[in-house]
Amino acid sequence: MLVRVCSLSDLEDKKPKKFSLNGIEVVVVKVEDRVFVMDAYCPHKGGNMEYGDINGYRIRCHLHGYEYNMETGDLVCNPYGKSDGWYFSPNLKIYKVEVKGKDVFVEV
Ligand code: FES
Repeated sequence: MLVRVCSLSDLEDKKPKKFSLNGIEVVVVKVEDRVFVMDAYCPHKGGNMEYGDINGYRIRCHLHGYEYNMETGDLVCNPYGKSDGWYFSPNLKIYKVEVKGKDVFVEV
């Protein structure tokens, strides 16, 4: 089901913004002419991705510095270099985005 998230004018370039879609919280990021939508909370330990830093098409969680690819959700940088126990992180959930006119929609 395609659901409207926001208008393009609600977004500032490289500034993550959180929205709620019928109880599902997502973060939307615009990078130039691309728009990405992801889970609002980091899959590592639940950091709020709205406070993430954007570097190209990557988002860096503010809590422990893990970085995820916003196109695929893949974990691309774990600054601790360990992946067991506390250090483990699944990938970030990414939603399929459609921009229609001036509005952003996601598949949920
Ligand atoms: S909670 Fe995001 S990197 Fe740990």
